[in-house]
Amino acid sequence: MSIAELLEGKRVCVCGGSGGVGKTTTSAAIALGMAARGAKVAVVTIDPARRLANALGLEELDNEPHLVAPERLAGAGLSIDGELWAMMLDPKRTFDELIERIAPDPERAEEIKANRVYRELSTAVSGSQEFTAIAKLYDLDQAHRFDLLVLDTPPSRNALDFLDAPGRLTSFLEGRALKAFTRPTGVGMRVLGRGASPLLAALRRVTGIDLLSDLSTFFALLGDMTNDFSLRAAQVEKMLRADTTGFVLVSSAQSEAIDEAIWFQRTLVDSGLPFCGVIVNRFHHDLLGDSEPEDLATELAAALGHDLTARVAENLHDYHVLARRDTLNLERLERAVGGPSPVLIPHFDSDVHDIDGLLRLHAFLFAPAEERERLIAEVVA
Ligand SMILES: Nc1ncnc2c1ncn2[C@@H]1O[C@H](COP(=O)(O)OP(=O)(O)O)[C@@H](O)[C@H]1O
Ligand SMILES: [Mg+2]
Repeated sequence: MSIAELLEGKRVCVCGGSGGVGKTTTSAAIALGMAARGAKVAVVTIDPARRLANALGLEELDNEPHLVAPERLAGAGLSIDGELWAMMLDPKRTFDELIERIAPDPERAEEIKANRVYRELSTAVSGSQEFTAIAKLYDLDQAHRFDLLVLDTPPSRNALDFLDAPGRLTSFLEGRALKAFTRPTGVGMRVLGRGASPLLAALRRVTGIDLLSDLSTFFALLGDMTNDFSLRAAQVEKMLRADTTGFVLVSSAQSEAIDEAIWFQRTLVDSGLPFCGVIVNRFHHDLLGDSEPEDLATELAAALGHDLTARVAENLHDYHVLARRDTLNLERLERAVGGPSPVLIPHFDSDVHDIDGLLRLHAFLFAPAEERERLIAEVVA
């Protein structure tokens, strides 16, 4: 199946997977392809490589989608019937915007933004990217400006982090446990107020952080806003579970990535989240079928000199080992996941950092089955 078929009827596409497998590049290529097919698409990228960001005209960091100038795309030979919009997520800014939106007045928003606990929270590398990616996705979805939103996900080591982190941060912001803990009459204060106070005092002297008072100030400032976090969390959850949302898993063909993709898929299904397909990126297609690299080497020897033949044969052998490995991993993935067969993108010789590169990916993502063989033959040759 092509990715266009997998995304039929979807308004939100979340591309998840472990670090480095190609989430950012595939999300851009998916958005490009859907825009070419007439949709008004926005892709929310996270930490794109500098050159890819430049290629998409993402120099501006204002945390809103920008129209990718059609001239940029037209030169590469793909006509865009819809619109491609792209943005680079700014987690800190997204967090600030959220506070500004739900604070009762601008003064309170400023006070919260200046609070130490808030500053730590909003810039923490783990958690805040995941949380704000989802927050931004929700806002864009609510604005109804686009036919399709494609969300790239943070470069977490583990794909499952992406599902956990926003929830963890939300429950912290809802602050039930902590509020009980930091209430002057609460258990926390009673315990910490006496026994642990030397520890906290020492911490305060060394770090300058008065943890308990910073925390209680923070929650006092949030006040009623914690209800808004709960409310929004429920709505976000509804969006993620909707059948117009699709989680696309991106994986490489290496064992660890495949293991993680299998876990991720299982967790999505167990959590009732709409899994819609897998993309196996950087796949080494098997060129030889049943014949051995040695057979081909004999054939080659007739055409090339001895030294060159030896080098080519060695190369071919290495490639063949990878191809056999990838094929086995792919079979394992297919058995575990079931459903539509994975969309394969070959391993290219060079990085994907410009529009031409995205178009190479695009060809494989959107090709109908009958065209795929020809495309593979072209790349591998
Ligand atoms: N099919 C491919 N062939 C060759 N290089 C690729 C391919 N897909 C992605 N890359 C390269 O791999 C690197 C990681 O891709 P990226 O999309 O940033 O991964 P992620 O977002 O999952 O961390 C980038 O340098 C990208 O250009
Ligand atoms: Mg990335």
